[in-house]
Amino acid sequence: MKATHLYLLLHVFLSTSVLVSTFEPFSTALVLGIGATLGRTIYNYLHESCEPKWIALNATGLKVDLDRKLYGQHIASRIILKAVSGFMSNDNPKKPLVLSLHGWTGTGKNFVSQLIADNVYKEGMDSSFVHIFTSELHFPHASQLETYKSQLQQWIKGNVTNCAHSMFIFDEMDKMHPGLIDSIKPYLDYYDKLDGVSYRKAIFIFLSNAGGESITQTALDFWKAGRDREEIELKDLETLLSLAVFNNKKSGLWHTSLIDKNLVDFFVPFLPLEYRHVLQCAMAEMIARGHQPDPSVADQVARDVVYFPKTERVFAVKGCKTIESKLDYYI
Ligand SMILES: Nc1ncnc2c1ncn2[C@@H]1O[C@H](COP(=O)(O)OP(=O)(O)OP(=O)(O)O)[C@@H](O)[C@H]1O
Ligand SMILES: *[C@@H]1O[C@H](CO)[C@@H](O)[C@H](O)[C@H]1NC(C)=O
Ligand SMILES: *[C@@H]1O[C@H](CO)[C@@H](O)[C@H](O)[C@H]1NC(C)=O
Ligand SMILES: [Mg+2]
Repeated sequence: MKATHLYLLLHVFLSTSVLVSTFEPFSTALVLGIGATLGRTIYNYLHESCEPKWIALNATGLKVDLDRKLYGQHIASRIILKAVSGFMSNDNPKKPLVLSLHGWTGTGKNFVSQLIADNVYKEGMDSSFVHIFTSELHFPHASQLETYKSQLQQWIKGNVTNCAHSMFIFDEMDKMHPGLIDSIKPYLDYYDKLDGVSYRKAIFIFLSNAGGESITQTALDFWKAGRDREEIELKDLETLLSLAVFNNKKSGLWHTSLIDKNLVDFFVPFLPLEYRHVLQCAMAEMIARGHQPDPSVADQVARDVVYFPKTERVFAVKGCKTIESKLDYYI
């Protein structure tokens, strides 16, 4: 649509200049010149580029989104806001920002990545500077590890060369081959430049379920002790989380020295979601669909979700993940 307008405009200018040219060469050059300049200006205006007009953190926007749209994640919310605003307001960061998001399924890890993208890039997740890699989609065959490694390195290098403020999201990090994780390590480190490219303004986000069980155990301990969920602090989870990630032999993170080399700036725990959060998700989904939010429908949806552990039934097995499709049955 935008491109069509642009071509139409240029076309008008060119045809005008052809008309004019039959009369006077000087005007032709002038009109052509103005046309080209105007065309370029309009193109830059409409087309995403690696410039502050398209890439700039809206810290207020991020805070508002985290407060209003993300439910039950007081720790994650706080760390993300601090980490992203600190990093984006630093004109000369010493290394790229590396966040590792951990937690039970359906608790908002992909969702938070989207909120960050929405408030850093005008185009959000659609930005050509935001890249998502999923192990099962992009790197499915262990036998092709060497190909994947060089491909991934080239992608990161190529994209950061194009735009220093690139964002890379690695989904299902725990399913990723340790060798592949190792191959991106240099980009996360404190190097001024690698082969003439500086990676220090890039953002890397790793998503995984690693440590989800120990986070859930802590949340359950608090619940059993009758303590408020909001009383859980990062320090209650930090050691546990790194232990769980270290000791989980299935997790790709465990095999690599990402952690002991301190390349990850923030480990962000996501708590398992309770009934009241599922309720909020259902209400939000109704609003997103343009329906009048109906608490009794939301209550029905939230009550039909499966909770664990078997005896206490506190946390939603799939978090808010299936709410969107479940709602179809109730509306
Ligand atoms: N804490 C939350 N607050 C608000 N909405 C949420 C939250 N968690 C999940 N959702 C909703 O559920 C959907 C699925 O969540 P999301 O994909 O972020 O889960 P995830 O943590 O990445 O799970 P998985 O580990 O299975 O990939 C989101 O798109 C969002 O609509
Ligand atoms: C930043 O976000 C706030 C809250 O969402 C919004 O009102 C404001 O217009 C945004 N600012 C910019 C520059 O996009
Ligand atoms: C940037 O990354 C994408 C994958 O998200 C890849 O397809 C593309 O080739 C990369 N660009 C460059 C210039 O390497
Ligand atoms: Mg996910």
